[in-house]
Amino acid sequence: MAVYFDNAATSYPKPEAVYNAVEYFQRQVGVNPGRGTYQKSREADGIIFDTRSALASLFKISDCSRIVFTSNVTESINLALKGYLIKGSHVITTAMEHNAVWRPLKVLEQGGDITLSLLKCPSGMAFNPEELPELIKKNTALVVINHASNVTGTIMPIEKVGKICRAHNIPLLVDAAQTAGVYPVDVQVMHIDLLAFTGHKALLGPAGTGGLYICEGIDLMPLKEGGTGSESLLEMQPAHLPDRFEAGTLNAPGIAGLGAGVKYILEQGVEKIRQHEIDLTEYALLKLKQFPDIVIYGPQDAPSRTGVISFNFTNIAPEEVTYMFDEVYDIMARSGLHCAPQAHRAIETVELNGTVRISFGVFNTQAEIDFLISALEDLANA
Ligand SMILES: Cc1ncc(COP(=O)(O)O)c(C=O)c1O
Repeated sequence: MAVYFDNAATSYPKPEAVYNAVEYFQRQVGVNPGRGTYQKSREADGIIFDTRSALASLFKISDCSRIVFTSNVTESINLALKGYLIKGSHVITTAMEHNAVWRPLKVLEQGGDITLSLLKCPSGMAFNPEELPELIKKNTALVVINHASNVTGTIMPIEKVGKICRAHNIPLLVDAAQTAGVYPVDVQVMHIDLLAFTGHKALLGPAGTGGLYICEGIDLMPLKEGGTGSESLLEMQPAHLPDRFEAGTLNAPGIAGLGAGVKYILEQGVEKIRQHEIDLTEYALLKLKQFPDIVIYGPQDAPSRTGVISFNFTNIAPEEVTYMFDEVYDIMARSGLHCAPQAHRAIETVELNGTVRISFGVFNTQAEIDFLISALEDLANA
């Protein structure tokens, strides 16, 4: 049997409704949203609006127009950082960030625009939020946190960070790439001012979809200007959301599919999806811990992590393991640095060429984990 354990990269398969929604949009609607007054264009508008509303329900956002569509979380993070930070800003982030956060921050730092401070994540564990106030300076303009690591699955204490940020009047930007759709995210309770998410992972949508929630009172400069189908006589970008940040034709078929993915999550309930993830992760951790030659990185209990597990054999290189998975067992998993060298520095696996990463999705089963474990037994005994 083919087993897909690379859901942290992208979710596969998608619910049937997602494939149907993309096909329906392409075949039966097909036209540009926000650009015409004829019936089909209004239908396209409605589909875009429905996806925005579904996302707002999922993240407990009261005004869905404050969610702007992007092509992925990388674009959302770039928009938030480059649209918000001004020269002389100080930014606090963590030692476990994905390159989607790390690289734009480093570009801004090396250009002399910002200075950076890091919350430490020893051995890939969550940082201690009590260390955050010590890092705050007079010019701290933003705190940027990865909600969960894509390498170790470590869940970061966002709610505690949100409270501290609110108390100091510092906006909080969260990279929810690994949690949106699989872990309850409430922008009110967590005090999140900017929520960046990607559509193709646990939100179950197609590639090329993503978004950014921008809290009222946060003013960003757009990354791009252009046509919006609104206020066309204006020479400047319209001020109202979402148009201010949605110049150019949207990926409407993708957004239609994303809407179906989010509706599937709302129907199932994100808590139920999270419980399935915890059950699979707990089972896999239990089984993996029985191998004397396997090291598991990050938190050792399922509730402290998402369905992402990084591990290594002490005597087999990670790329060899994933090669054998693919060649012999038809198991799809990823080895290497997972675009997050910072996280691998934290768990000291850069010199090992990274880790073997398995990551579960909503359609994975315990039987698939049993199959993986028997493959690992073969490799351990070879
Ligand atoms: C934590 C995290 N941030 C950002 C990204 C980038 O996602 P995308 O390629 O959809 O922009 C990923 C993808 O692996 C991720 O896991």
